[in-house]
Parts: sequence; C-alpha cells; structure tokens
Amino acid sequence: MCGIFGITLSSETTIGALLRRALERLEYRGYDSAGIAIVTPQGILIRKDAGKVAEVSSRYGFDQIRGATGVAHTRWATHGKPNQINAHPHSDCSGTIAVVHNGIIENYEELKSELIAKGHVFKSETDTEVFAHLMEEYERSGLTPWEAFKRALSRIRGAYALAVVDSREPNKVFFARNLSPLIIGVGDGFNLVASDIPTVLEHTNRVIPLRDGEYGYITPSSIVVEHDGVAVDISDRVQLIPWSADQALRGGYQHFMLKEIHEQPEALASTIAGLEPRRLSEVAEMLLNAKRVYVVGAGTSYYAGLTFQLGLIEYRIAAIPIISSEYSTYEGLFDVDDVAVAVSQSGETIDTIRAVRAMRERGVKVVAVTNVVASTLARESDAVLYTRAGPEIGVAATKTFTTQVALLAALHAQVGRIVGADVEPRMQGLKRLPEVVRKAIELNEGSAKALAERLKASASAYYLSRGLGMPVALEGALKMKEIAYVHAEAYPAGESKHGPIALVESKFPVIFVFSDPSLKEKLLNNVAEMQAREALTIGVVPRGDDVGKKLKYVFEVPHLDPLLNSAAFVVPLQLLAYYTAVALGRDPDKPRNLAKTVTVE
Ligand code: G6P
Repeated sequence: MCGIFGITLSSETTIGALLRRALERLEYRGYDSAGIAIVTPQGILIRKDAGKVAEVSSRYGFDQIRGATGVAHTRWATHGKPNQINAHPHSDCSGTIAVVHNGIIENYEELKSELIAKGHVFKSETDTEVFAHLMEEYERSGLTPWEAFKRALSRIRGAYALAVVDSREPNKVFFARNLSPLIIGVGDGFNLVASDIPTVLEHTNRVIPLRDGEYGYITPSSIVVEHDGVAVDISDRVQLIPWSADQALRGGYQHFMLKEIHEQPEALASTIAGLEPRRLSEVAEMLLNAKRVYVVGAGTSYYAGLTFQLGLIEYRIAAIPIISSEYSTYEGLFDVDDVAVAVSQSGETIDTIRAVRAMRERGVKVVAVTNVVASTLARESDAVLYTRAGPEIGVAATKTFTTQVALLAALHAQVGRIVGADVEPRMQGLKRLPEVVRKAIELNEGSAKALAERLKASASAYYLSRGLGMPVALEGALKMKEIAYVHAEAYPAGESKHGPIALVESKFPVIFVFSDPSLKEKLLNNVAEMQAREALTIGVVPRGDDVGKKLKYVFEVPHLDPLLNSAAFVVPLQLLAYYTAVALGRDPDKPRNLAKTVTVE
C-alpha cells in the first residue's frame, strides 16, 4: 500500500521536518519502514530505515536537514522484508536518482536481469529499485532526466504511484500514476505530490487528482502533466477541498481512532445535512428500474453495504452482495440493465475499483458511495453519493461506517418513498441519529473500558445476531480482530449451533447484537444456549429493554429502526475493540500488517 510524498519549494527550508510531518500523516498507509531523499548541492541525501516514522526520523535527525526538494515514503512491505535496505527511497548506482513508489512493478524481475547484465548493481530485493536503474541507464545513453523518466515509465507494467528526484535537475519532482492514488497539491512558491488529501492540507487545499496513465513533473512554479506523450491541460482540474488541516490532527485524543469514534455525531450530522434529494431520487429510480442490483465493497464498507442489501428486501428488491475481491465469480451475471452500489470510504481500494471497472465494461451502471471527493471511484462511476465524514486517519474505519449506513438508509427511504411506503418514521429517525450516537458513546464508554479489562485475557470471542443485526456483529468482530488481535468471529446466532458452539466453555465471551427487535425472542434462545455452556454473555440492547436483565454485561443504546440501529449499535463495539486494544498495549491507529487503503490486489 505505502504512502508517498514529494515537494519542491522556491527556497531552502528545514525540508526534513516537512517531510517527517507528511510521513506522519501518511503512516496509516503502512509503517514497516520510512525514508526520505533530499536534493543537496553535494548530491542526493537518503535517510531511511525499518521502523515507524517517529523512530526513524529521530534516529536520523530528519528535522535538521535543509533543502528545497525532496521525496518521502512510508512502507507496507510487499516485495522484500521490512529492513533498512528495502526501505524507500531507492537509488541508482551513482546515487543521483531517488525513487519512492506505492504499488507493484509486475515485470521487475525481467527488468532487473536486463539491468544486471548491463552492469547495474542492485542493493535491495524490491521491485521499485529497477526504476532508479532504468532511469540511470537511459541517462547514460544521453537522455535528459525527463526523457529518461518517460522512457523508464514505458518499460514498467503494474500499479504505481511514483515520485522521483534527480540531482541533475534539482528543482523537479517527477511523478506518475497508474492504479495507485496520487494527487498534486497546487501551492504558491511550491508544488507537491502525495498519496492522499489529508497529507496535502497542511500546505494547500487546492488539489488535482491524477488519472491513470498520467505522469509529469512539478517545479516550485509549474506543473507539467502528460498522457501517452500528449500534454494534458489541467487548468480546469483544480479541486478545492473542504477539509481543514486541523480535522486531520489528533486534537487531544490519545489516538485517531478514539477521536474518530467521538466525531461520529458531527460526521453524521454533516452527512445528513449534505444529502442531495435530487441525486438520491435519481439513484433510487435507477435501482427500481434495474434488472439486478449489486452491492459491492471491501472490509467495513462491505458490511455497511450489507445493511442496505438486507434492507432492500423490505421493498422486494433482491440485491446481490459482492465482496469486491470476489467480483470475477459474478462477472457472468453483469449486464446492461443492472445497477451496482459500490461502497468505499477512500474510493481507492483496488479490488473495488477493479470490480467497478469489470461491471462498467459490461454495461452495469455504477453508483459510488464514497467519502473522498474526486477519488478514482467517484470519477469512474455513473453517479456519486458522498458521505461527509471528513478525513479518517485511524486504520480501522469507524465514522465512515456509521455515515455510510446513514447515507444508505436515506437512499433506502427514497426507494421506499417511490414505491409508496411510509418512510416518515425513518426520516425522523435519521434526523435523531447524530444525537442517538452521541448518547451511545456517553452511555457506554465507561463500561466498554471496564469490560475491555476482562476481554483482554480472552483468546477468542463470538459476535452473534440475526437479520439486520448481522452486519453490526460482523463489523464489531472485524474491529476486535483488526486492532486488538483477539480472534473474533461473527455468526448468525442460529447457525452458531452448527459448529461454533463447540468452542464455547466457561467464560468464553459471546456478544449479542439486539438491534432488530423482531428477532429478539429467537436471539434470547441463543443467549440461553450459550449460558448453559457458562459463556460470558454480553449484549448490545435497546435502552430500557428488559432483555438486558438476561445478560451478564449490557451496552444500552437508544432504539431507532433496525436499519438505523446499525449505525448506533455498532458504537459500543467500536469502543470495546478500542479499549481492548489499548488494554493489551496495541496501537489501534496502526494495527500490524494492515493498511487503511489497500491498493494491491
Ligand atoms: C482496509 C481498511 C478498512 C476498510 C477497507 C475498505 O481494509 O483497513 O478499514 O474498511 O480497507 O476500504 P474502503 O476505503 O474501500 O472503504
């Protein structure tokens, strides 16, 4: 996945500190290693190592390094172990070129053999290093750095966002994008490139998202973009981003994740205030006229999509839920009269992008539900509905789940309105949702913290529910395994008798989600079954409901309808996962092996 950044300024500054701050913002994309390359009058200075940004940067004194042009990288290892040699930036034999890269160069092995045969000496096991040597090779043959960069690009296949500095052209950062996200930040007296928007906000809120196949270079006062050898006019592509730099900072909270849990009422209020009735109604018509409806997404976004897919049954719409990476199995179904709702916080998850591309190739109309303006998904869809959650930095999605659920509930209501259902209660519920979520935090934070102290000793936990409670159980279990590394499995409660219950013994934690009141009695039977095996039964229950008396630990949440409850009942489970992770000494913002935006298949 990795995060990359490159900047060139008109005058020298403590660029090492600037790059360190950019890396801190990008660190959620990978934190196996970090590194910077700065152009100096003596050549290119590279400082890099395994470890988190703060460790590497203080070990090598990033903050003291001066310069005007540099690139930076934070790594999520794909090719080669996370050690100093494999950390980016990578350089050529003579040390005049430095490259940072997010993605995978698929044909690197054949390029590497070719370059070794020409006498190039490789230092790392990475795919990225070939790019530096390729450029060097073309420069040796007499090309300028810009020509050599283009020639090298024409040789590589795969996914990449690249930023390159070359000491022969000290005021330029070369860049290229194919599949991996990259945006240009437009400044006064500087320009920059970065993997995402929050990283740019410290410097500017004017950005140009690059498209696949685009490449070019920035200088402090100019931006050159080409595609297939032809200059691209970017004058009307500058977007103003409505997020402030402060929104992307931790602001007093111990972790971004906790901050983002607490931001949910506000994020929901913005999402609800930003609903566009005309757009919702167009999309609802599309869904009603579709032959088949698909709901596609990955991770948390998939679970938010499930609430919608299950909810549509109320209107006799049998939507097919598809995990993005599994799309090819369904490809034979995709047809011109179909409509897909593609859910993705970042709008950059490669599996979701691939699924959407395959669908559109076969004529499926795609509706994007995303949080990022001008993301790849937004650009490549037929219609876009934006959640307005603000930047989410914690790797584990929280506020983006609840805002996705809210937005999809509004779309669901719009479908209902067209078919003549009484959707007024749901719309009233939607208005109350931010307050209900605020209450869900207030009522449950203390007990989540206390229960975490018990759960930290558990190796496993089950999350059981039924019907519309299932996506909440799935999301709750995902949070727990993602950040606390406690093995957590979600199951339809009835199905738990077909296997999972075999593991249950005294004090085994089983968490029940009671967000769908119509299934309460049946779920209570499952509680009894677990209690007969002396499980530690925990429930997320409607506030004031006597069901709470049947469970050992209870989280109470004000009740709306089962669809909207998905956004509120998940909150105690987010808090429980967060405090369990903290109790176990894990870093919830940077869970091991994970990244926020998965840009490799
Ligand atoms: C990664 C993140 C998850 C996220 C998923 C989908 O796995 O760690 O938090 O839910 O990607 O991301 P998207 O941006 O498509 O919603």
